[in-house]
Amino acid sequence: MIHFLHKKRNASAAISADMLDPNNIPHHVAIIMDGNGRWAKRRGMPRSYGHRAGADTLKRIVVAASDLGINVLTVYAFSTENWKRPDTEVSYIMKLMNDYLRKNLLELDEHNVKLHFIGDMSRLNPVLQEAFQQAEADMQHNTGLTLNVAVNYGGRLELTQAMQKIAKDVQNGQLQPADITEQTISKYLYTAPENDIDLMIRPGADKRVSNFLLWQMAYAEFWYTDLCWPEFTKETLIEAILAFQGRERRFGGLK
Ligand code: FPP
Repeated sequence: MIHFLHKKRNASAAISADMLDPNNIPHHVAIIMDGNGRWAKRRGMPRSYGHRAGADTLKRIVVAASDLGINVLTVYAFSTENWKRPDTEVSYIMKLMNDYLRKNLLELDEHNVKLHFIGDMSRLNPVLQEAFQQAEADMQHNTGLTLNVAVNYGGRLELTQAMQKIAKDVQNGQLQPADITEQTISKYLYTAPENDIDLMIRPGADKRVSNFLLWQMAYAEFWYTDLCWPEFTKETLIEAILAFQGRERRFGGLK
């Protein structure tokens, strides 16, 4: 066992960015930041400790993604289903997001990151909504990595709201039903115009989609790891990109 762990550590230590093909960096990467709770529990700590460590990981991975030349990073911070968790945990995650902005905005700005919150913000505390809007406005002129943070996000909710907006535009005559194409629908999504996911990463050992970016992932390559999100490093991201670069993407066609 010890021998195996040693080998595993050495294998990840050997990974570096110069192993990547710079001409095949995924344009849009999505991450389901899972495993915070289990990571904390294993250390005999409360789940909140895991979420705080997860927020620190997010800061490091945004910088790493930007360094590696990823253009768009979309992360799942809070789903429409996460409201089912105890109130104390929900409040903690909301507070953590506010703290995250206060603590890291300057550094993200220095890295030329453009911030965008996606999801239905109407259910969030108005103070948090205001903090999100302010952060987006402060960084709107940045031209580097676009960071989409999904909060109160659900893929089905996103599609439902897109359909409601389309129906309204048909009703007021701006759109004809016959003109509704895949391109039209794409324009109504939260992530527009950068919808298509190239690489979807899920730490935390589970292998499911959890209502994330259902439309956008049509041709995403999936990569999973047993590591929990707080354990995720720049090397883990490089490992995922290396796997991506080893895949043959055919988009339903032939090679
Ligand atoms: C999933 O792990 C994680 C969440 C529901 C919250 C994600 C939040 C963060 C990474 C930090 C805050 C976000 C920002 C934008 C600063 P889990 O709790 O489901 O883990 P488990 O499956 O081990 O229980």
